Amino acid sequence: MTALEGVRILDFTHVQSGPTCTQLLAWFGADVIKVERPGSGDATRAQLVDIPGADSLYFTMLNHNKRSIELDAKTPEGKEVLTRLIESCDVMVENFAPGALERMGFPWEVVQTINPRIILASIKGFGPGRYEACKVYENVAQCVGGAASTTGFRDGIPVVTGAQIGDSGTGLHLALGIVTALYQREQTGRGQRVSAAMQDGVLNLCRVKLRDQQRLQKGPLREYSQFGEGVPFADATPRAGNDSGGGQPGRILRCKGWEDDPNAYVYFITQGAAWSKICALIGRPDWQSDPRYATPEARLPRLNEVFATIESWTETIDKFTVMEICNPLGIPVGPILSMKEIAEDEGLRASGTVVEVDHPVRGRHLTVGCPIKLSDSAVDVRPAPLLGQHTEEVLSQLLGYSADEVDRLRRSGALGGVPDRAAAE
Ligand code: COA
Repeated sequence: MTALEGVRILDFTHVQSGPTCTQLLAWFGADVIKVERPGSGDATRAQLVDIPGADSLYFTMLNHNKRSIELDAKTPEGKEVLTRLIESCDVMVENFAPGALERMGFPWEVVQTINPRIILASIKGFGPGRYEACKVYENVAQCVGGAASTTGFRDGIPVVTGAQIGDSGTGLHLALGIVTALYQREQTGRGQRVSAAMQDGVLNLCRVKLRDQQRLQKGPLREYSQFGEGVPFADATPRAGNDSGGGQPGRILRCKGWEDDPNAYVYFITQGAAWSKICALIGRPDWQSDPRYATPEARLPRLNEVFATIESWTETIDKFTVMEICNPLGIPVGPILSMKEIAEDEGLRASGTVVEVDHPVRGRHLTVGCPIKLSDSAVDVRPAPLLGQHTEEVLSQLLGYSADEVDRLRRSGALGGVPDRAAAE
């Protein structure tokens, strides 16, 4: 048995933010039925295509373990099917542009009337207010959520991160909202609306930067490199390069081979508790007792010198050797792993975080499995569905349509054309 067995999700999501959320729920055992526009489906099926004729990795890596039905929800027959789906699902998830669900004729009031127990979960770019009607993509969310203004180096422009904190981050937030609402429904018997705005999700992940904004009003941020460099602070939390956020200063340092390998670096943290070990390692045992270096506070104005000295040691060995030497000494370090190294990482494969999946059209491909491990709910990562692969199965087995009725719906155009069964089998 899986954790969410018996929970049925009407998955009206597309692109990345919503699909991340419903993929997680599918991994935990929910029956996720992805409703897609006939003929084309989720736009990501055809984006960044690497194998002509096959769904892209963009789509296949975000839609594992789901079923797919084709349905034009704007035709009368499509609305009829959608209504039956709403009646028989526990959760409806969508991340359409603001107002799209309403224009389709299914605002929350209608959805709730059709099924008072249903949870309607939505992702939008912004919460209520001035920008609520705007469409938003990942990088816009990173910018309006405060992340970009605090990422990058002080003398450069704002930078967005490769981690999809706007899309996948908000999908995670929404998934938590959904299971929380399911839990509350156990007590109340009622569904509710769950909303997660991408701006809010990004800001939640940037919480420590808003902390620093307030600390700045009381004086300079002494753990930022710019403090030691004597550069005055302006009135907003600055970009801090690779400084580590807390009271344990860290930097990215060169390792052997950095001249040719863009990832021959290590993140090195000068944790206070490990200082004596660090001093011994880098050949500066005198820094243990020298009052200019002995305490974290004393070192703050000297971080450039401290890290340059540590780097003259890390430069002599490769990044994995740094890890092997530092770990037993309790010094927190981490090699900069490339995506190639991650793809080949034995530990990640053994834990099921990196998995290979057989897809009926594209063949074997690599994907990220479920990053959350439940000891009593094993995850079996299955391939993403082909467009409309389960239309007939869902309509007949779940919604109880007869073959004639399915034929009527198909002739109306609500289900798209005849599906390519050969590809699905
Ligand atoms: N049947 C009928 N119509 C369908 C349909 C279906 N199965 N699936 C989608 N549509 C329609 C929608 O109703 C909408 O119609 P409308 O414009 O007449 O209201 C239309 O398709 C386009 O949907 P929309 O969501 O506006 O797509 P888009 O490509 O224009 O915008 C986003 C994409 C991501 C910018 C937008 O959806 C958005 O801002 N979403 C919220 C924030 C978000 O999740 N962003 C990150 C995405 S990773």
